[in-house]
Amino acid sequence: MAVTSAETGFDLTLTEEQEQVQRIARDFATERVLPHAAEIDDQGKIPRELLVEMGKLGFMGTYVPERYGGSGLDTVSYVLIVEEINRACASTGVVLCSHVSLAVDPILHFGSDAQKRRYLPALANGERIGCFALSEPASGSDAAAMRTSARPDGAEWVLNGTKNFITNGSIGDVAVVFAQTDPPQRHKGIAAFIVEKGSPGFSVGKLEKKLGIRGSDTAQLVFQDCRVPAANLLGEVGEGFKIALSTLDGGRISIAAQAVGIARACLEDSLAYAKQREAFGKKIADFQAIQWMLADMATEIDAARLLTWRAAALKDAGEDLILASAEAKLFASDIAVKAARDCVQIFGGYGYLKDFPAERHYRDAKITEIYEGTSEIMKLVIAEEMLKE
Ligand code: CAA
Repeated sequence: MAVTSAETGFDLTLTEEQEQVQRIARDFATERVLPHAAEIDDQGKIPRELLVEMGKLGFMGTYVPERYGGSGLDTVSYVLIVEEINRACASTGVVLCSHVSLAVDPILHFGSDAQKRRYLPALANGERIGCFALSEPASGSDAAAMRTSARPDGAEWVLNGTKNFITNGSIGDVAVVFAQTDPPQRHKGIAAFIVEKGSPGFSVGKLEKKLGIRGSDTAQLVFQDCRVPAANLLGEVGEGFKIALSTLDGGRISIAAQAVGIARACLEDSLAYAKQREAFGKKIADFQAIQWMLADMATEIDAARLLTWRAAALKDAGEDLILASAEAKLFASDIAVKAARDCVQIFGGYGYLKDFPAERHYRDAKITEIYEGTSEIMKLVIAEEMLKE
């Protein structure tokens, strides 16, 4: 698809390399992920070998430079992969999104060379899984209100507190954890740390049961006098909040791509069903009521994909992406929820049954309006960016 954006000056025509990445991801998603999607949802578990395979294909470190063990591709390639995996299975998709955008990304952008050499190769090849620990039981949207504390003690930091809603929390080997070093300073006192599974005082708490994306794990992480080497401080003390928010700017692009993938699953499954289901003596695809739903889905998916690609291209160009990523996530998550609702409607009674994928898409789509910044926070970010000037 060739698209040149007059506003950004970016040519969003896919390169040959990006088209090849898209083909590889689509084939893998169709052959290796899609056949297991219902079982992953049902069992609440993703076979580890799927993640290993994604690592071998280079998906787990798509835009990590080759010198740190990654594929050395770009963010546009990454969102192409994210869309394909999520078209097949949103649970597997969010493991990929959280790993790359929320754990690998801050180490890549804010880590020292020693930290990158130590952590990135095994994360990029999928041997180790990463997670991002920002939210807490009493702070979600108001991230700066976190209570998890960090105090220096010799050559270590001592962390205390509980993190909530952590995707990859129990399967993760490496966590990027945010903690407050100086409460009166609010966001200016926050620091980020790389904490390894097995660190003394670090444990996994409650595993959450969820409406959708049931195959991905969402866990509490508990820090009780958890000792972290000073060398694992990511960036500077006081820089943690900016690390968290700029990481989320990138994360929101991947959730937009996830939403596009889920919406595409809704459209493709609806189309296939509408072409074979008959009512009143003809295929339901022949009824205008169904055609209008399909037409809306197709148009909105294209629009959401373009917003997502634009945000990814801005990230690759090193441009400010706060506005573009928030717009992409707000719009894509909204249309994914709508596409999932219409998909269930097109399937009718069968849409409500577990025998068909529509009800899974309906449950999976909703989270895209909540995690990595709710739609209300996206509107707040967009309005603030517009009013800034
Ligand atoms: N990038 C870098 N810095 C940023 C920034 C950004 N996108 N946005 C704001 N900042 C900076 C500001 O410039 C400001 O810096 P100075 O003090 O130097 O001026 C500082 O951060 C504070 O800015 P605000 O006063 O605007 O901050 P705030 O406390 O009012 O919060 C917010 C703003 C937009 C509400 C923000 O807190 C936010 O995005 N909240 C949502 C958090 C979120 O998305 N949580 C999801 C957690 S991850 C998850 O979902 C789990 C998972 O595993 C998938």
